[in-house]
Amino acid sequence: MSTIKSLDELKKIREQSLKKMELRTVGAEKDSIKILIGMATCGIAAGARDTLSGILDEIDKQNLDNVYVVQVGCMGYCYAEPVVQVNMPGKEPIVYGNIDAKKGREIINKHIQKGELLEDLIISKSFHRV
Ligand code: FES
Repeated sequence: MSTIKSLDELKKIREQSLKKMELRTVGAEKDSIKILIGMATCGIAAGARDTLSGILDEIDKQNLDNVYVVQVGCMGYCYAEPVVQVNMPGKEPIVYGNIDAKKGREIINKHIQKGELLEDLIISKSFHRV
């Protein structure tokens, strides 16, 4: 995980993330794939910012225009932060735990692209969508 050395650096990272998020949320449609990332204090402390960056980078790299990323607050899984929920149209939501940037990219490459679940990383399935 990288270290933020100044307030300006933090603001710059925030602006970059918000810009990418805007690109990912504008025009979100009912049949799109949604990725929710827990960004409560516990998530950020565990590295959710890096997870978010890795996921956004991978989505951009693969030019996936039907995948939307949403930053959410407390998801109730402090013990497993950073937490990422994947909502695929017509399928049960899947919640993954302890997701760093590398695992986030893996979620994009396997779950989103090929429909393969990353079984070892799942902490919850079959519940009401957030
Ligand atoms: S405060 Fe950590 S998940 Fe709610």
